[in-house]
Amino acid sequence: MILSIDQGTTGTTAFVFNSSGILVGRSYSEIPNYYPKPGWVEQNAEEIWLVTQRVCTAALQRAGIRASEVKAVGITNQRETTILWDKHTGKPVHPAIVWQCRRSAEICEELAAEGKSDWLRERSGLLLDAYFSASKLLWMFRKQPELLARARNGELCFGTVDSWLMWKMSGGNAHLTDHTNASRTLLYNLEQKNWDPELLTLFDCPESILPEIRPSAGHFTDTDPESFLGAGAPICGVAGDQQAALFGQGCISPGNIKNTYGTGCFMLAFAGEKRPKLPKGLLATIACNTDGSPAYAVEGSVFTAGSAIQWLRDEMGLIQQAVDTEIIAQSIPNTRGVYLVPAFSGLGAPHWNPSARGTVCGLSRGAGRAEVVRATLESIAYQSDELARLMEEALGVPISHMRVDGGASANNFLMQFQADISALRIERPKLVESTAIGAALLAGIGSGVWYFDKLPKCLQEIERDFMPSMGLSEREPLLTGWKRAVEACKAF
Ligand code: G3P
Repeated sequence: MILSIDQGTTGTTAFVFNSSGILVGRSYSEIPNYYPKPGWVEQNAEEIWLVTQRVCTAALQRAGIRASEVKAVGITNQRETTILWDKHTGKPVHPAIVWQCRRSAEICEELAAEGKSDWLRERSGLLLDAYFSASKLLWMFRKQPELLARARNGELCFGTVDSWLMWKMSGGNAHLTDHTNASRTLLYNLEQKNWDPELLTLFDCPESILPEIRPSAGHFTDTDPESFLGAGAPICGVAGDQQAALFGQGCISPGNIKNTYGTGCFMLAFAGEKRPKLPKGLLATIACNTDGSPAYAVEGSVFTAGSAIQWLRDEMGLIQQAVDTEIIAQSIPNTRGVYLVPAFSGLGAPHWNPSARGTVCGLSRGAGRAEVVRATLESIAYQSDELARLMEEALGVPISHMRVDGGASANNFLMQFQADISALRIERPKLVESTAIGAALLAGIGSGVWYFDKLPKCLQEIERDFMPSMGLSEREPLLTGWKRAVEACKAF
């Protein structure tokens, strides 16, 4: 049995797979997000830990097995979210600053004004943006200088959520991370595949607070029976959620591409062992090779996707549940020229504009609820399309198809619109929880339960293909309208 933990931005899911790759138990619970100021997003690391323990216990119960039957644990997680905790008490010393949080945007502007952008991109493959961990950490140190003093004194540990969970699960014995998570911190050198001393200096980060970096498959540590489920199980697979999904979708050849429709949209293309040259707006990051060792990927991220559907439900009251959007969107032939750009936390790739804000354009008197709902779904596909075009440029090969996963990939209207607007075949697997599958596969490979050339096939089977059916004469004006709407939202 393999226990795969997917700790995401909105909640944690635990999955239990048997050695044939059949899902035999599963449990999910939401975690609270806090929004103390506009653009700020926080979580409580203790709550992440409590919820994770709870769902793991429930998933094992549903699978009808004891913790001692778990042969390997895999962890996949929301990336970049920054946690700082006390090495001796194991207690967080600051709220976790979530990847979506924009509070450190000014620090990034300051460093950009000092001319650091290109240098930083060259070393890390990333951009000087508040999305990544380093400026969040520096923000904590600047606001609370006593934390910096304690960090320098060797009293604190920094980690993304994978490190935090491994620390807690091992009873404080292991301070580790993997290459995929490390590559999202802005403290990692993409060439050397290690922490970069010059980046550490730039962000005032003492080396002693950093976790040790390991390949994504292999023995990380054992769980401590007193801290986690009463049994000592080896943690053998760890990867950031988007890289885990890329692996879980079987994207291990250059040019293989996947898009995850979650809180945001994350498109990754496997690039192989040679570092890719990037067009403006995309990121280079670490992916998992067949044995979990580090390779390269190209990534583009859209900050708001599935969370725009939540907004329709929770703030606008236009729908009761996410599934309503499919029927509403299909009830009208088009949006009557309405565009919605959900730039609630600024715009991610390829615009990287932290001050853009959500905008609805093109309203006429006849436009109503259905048009706004459909425009919200379409916005997810338009944003993803911008990424797909850039991916083609980065890889230098035309893309003909794309694997999809994540909650909103269940929406048939959205998938068909994506196929149409991007002129791509969209492949949706039977099990769209590719992140958890990726972590399970890594744990299976890392523990010797599975071998790469004999992985259980059922984990990657296609459920449905969506074929493009929109002509160029329809597509081009739609894309032109979208570009104008994006420009309007940047004007805020
Ligand atoms: O980079 C952020 C990403 O890892 C978050 O993913 O699935 O929690 O929205 P998710």
